[in-house]
Amino acid sequence: MTQIAGRTALITGGASGIGLLMGRMLMERGAARLFVWDVSATNIDLARVTLDPLGTVVFDRVDVSDTEAVRAAVARLEADGTAIDLLINNAGIVVGKPFLKHGHADIDRTLAINTGALMHLTRALLPGMVSRGRGHVVNIASAAALVSNPNMSVYAASKWAVTGWSDSLRQELERSGTGVRVTTVLPYYIHTGMFDGVRSRLIPILQPEDVARRILRAVQRDAVFLHMPAIVRLLPLLRGLLPTRALDFVLNRIFGVASSMDDFHGRQETAKDVREPKGDLS
Ligand SMILES: NC(=O)c1ccc[n+]([C@@H]2O[C@H](COP(=O)([O-])OP(=O)(O)OC[C@H]3O[C@@H](n4cnc5c(N)ncnc54)[C@H](O)[C@@H]3O)[C@@H](O)[C@H]2O)c1
Repeated sequence: MTQIAGRTALITGGASGIGLLMGRMLMERGAARLFVWDVSATNIDLARVTLDPLGTVVFDRVDVSDTEAVRAAVARLEADGTAIDLLINNAGIVVGKPFLKHGHADIDRTLAINTGALMHLTRALLPGMVSRGRGHVVNIASAAALVSNPNMSVYAASKWAVTGWSDSLRQELERSGTGVRVTTVLPYYIHTGMFDGVRSRLIPILQPEDVARRILRAVQRDAVFLHMPAIVRLLPLLRGLLPTRALDFVLNRIFGVASSMDDFHGRQETAKDVREPKGDLS
């Protein structure tokens, strides 16, 4: 069982969406300290209003795709003697358009934020967790790691990669008896704004509060995987049982998955500093 009360947590992308909600819930459940890393100064300013009254919350403007900035931010934690018990690798972006409309920068940035950053930050924090004999790493992947629908090719690739890495890491840490847990989270679409415009024919779009609450429950129970909703668990089984064209029929004609991104426009008011994260880091 992973304990929350009295522990120190770090959430990337923790100034918006489910990251902000998980941060709030961690503080409400008695976490001693919360570190929020986010690239957006605008989102950080807004998140302060929610989180500052709840206790010791430290904000750091970090672009997690910048490995040197991540290493410098980890060095700042270490210099202060801060030990992270719970790392939630949550920051993510989506470029919702056909692959041929992706620029090379879209590809690089999606893979750097959604995949590489999780590995680099975990690599930097894991030795401390292993030496203390405890810790928990939560990796937010996506149901897109189990089904590859049109208009999210690079996003799906980034989440497939996270899922493979995350569960390999879990097994390594379990085999060597480190006491460090890993939970991989695969949610369907969530009403946070990130995927605004998506259509879902049969499966209701998830509510952010519910998602955040269930992730923390999974962490407390040391769950290996969390699929949301539960029907997402069936995807690998269907893929194994059905011929691909039959699976296409079920997912696309019945569930409408292939057309779900047709009207995607994403968050309209996405802070300019998320799109163009240059500027002074304060
Ligand atoms: N919203 C969904 O439908 C959905 C579904 C499945 C999985 N997910 C995953 O859940 C996670 C959170 O999604 P959300 O809907 O809460 O998103 P969100 O857009 O509300 O929040 C993401 C936060 O990450 C921050 N961020 C973006 N790039 C960053 C970077 N380079 N460095 C640091 N911070 C950065 C943003 O500023 C923002 O505050 C993501 O990994 C996403 O892929 C979301």
